Amino acid sequence: MSKQTQARSADTAETLLSVRNLSTYYSEGEDDVPVRAVDGVDFELARGETYGLVGESGCGKSTLGLSLIRALPPQGDIGDGEIRFNGRAIGQLPKSEIKDLQWAEISMIYQGAQNAFNPVKTVGKQIAEPLRIHDIVPEGERKGRVRELLEKVNLQPDVAEQYPHELSGGMKQRAAIAMAIACEPDLLIADEPTTALDVIVQAEVLNMLQRLQEDLNFGMLVISHNLAAIMKLADRIGVMYGGEIVETAPSETLYDQPKHPYTARLLQSLIDPRRPPDRVETIEGTPPDLRNPPTGCRFAERCELATEQCRAEAPPLEPVGDDHETACFHHEKVSQL
Ligand SMILES: Nc1ncnc2c1ncn2[C@@H]1O[C@H](COP(=O)(O)OP(=O)(O)O)[C@@H](O)[C@H]1O
Ligand code: SF4
Ligand SMILES: [Mg+2]
Repeated sequence: MSKQTQARSADTAETLLSVRNLSTYYSEGEDDVPVRAVDGVDFELARGETYGLVGESGCGKSTLGLSLIRALPPQGDIGDGEIRFNGRAIGQLPKSEIKDLQWAEISMIYQGAQNAFNPVKTVGKQIAEPLRIHDIVPEGERKGRVRELLEKVNLQPDVAEQYPHELSGGMKQRAAIAMAIACEPDLLIADEPTTALDVIVQAEVLNMLQRLQEDLNFGMLVISHNLAAIMKLADRIGVMYGGEIVETAPSETLYDQPKHPYTARLLQSLIDPRRPPDRVETIEGTPPDLRNPPTGCRFAERCELATEQCRAEAPPLEPVGDDHETACFHHEKVSQL
């Protein structure tokens, strides 16, 4: 554990979630080589804080979110590590207790949520589902509560009577948000909440998440492959690459002084008015195969700063500044990229 992480864990009063050395695998059976989708991840989230998790597709972001809410598919398994939520170890909770946690204490807007609604049930019935499961609102009052929730996400209350195909993608995403906040959870995980939405609707959804977070004071983990989408929303950002968190810092620090070559490249690939167009680049190559990740730094194959040491040893996540950690042997050279 790094010094910085130790310092933060001493401050437990406001800690909502703490994840230590979490590893999650997918395996089809004993003879199958497991996919190490999340491999030794540490991070903390305070009550009311927004943590952004960013990285290219296939880096383990959704698997991390699904591990936290304990909703992995059957072939997924939490191996090592600890997840503490509201002071309780939840990484190995039995199924019966997981059900009490989901929606009520931790809820998730799943990746592609707008396509996951049941086509033959009204939107209102589906939003009411968490309220029914947890029996939070008496049956006779559920319809009224659903109408209030729809208003909270800027939808007309009558949307409750409509079927999913009658709603636009943006409206369905708002309905998914309404469902996720129905039981007023302490932690909301939003996995790619703006993907597949047009730019204006993306901004509306992000503003809405921020407003709801301020009103309801839940901790929020926002996951996106698009750093630009979450930069403004997140207080702190974790950059995930090849199943590991390779850099974490407050959003502004990460933007101004990235200390990992991968973060620097993600920033350079942003279409950002503050960045001259000749600095917009794509990152060549692809993330590593998580069935058989390299022994040294997982970014080495794509990194201009890579040396023999990088190919031989895995760089640990270490403090490089105030609340700023990176996993790079040559972080002092990143500003030259
Ligand atoms: N159900 C699954 N079974 C096997 N492998 C999976 C499954 N879901 C995801 N993976 C693999 O786990 C790795 C991480 O995937 P994922 O968590 O979806 O990444 P991200 O959300 O960053 O795109 C990828 O290599 C992906 O192919
Ligand atoms: S440890 Fe080496 S290969 Fe890895 S990101 Fe840093 S410089 Fe690049
Ligand atoms: Mg994903």
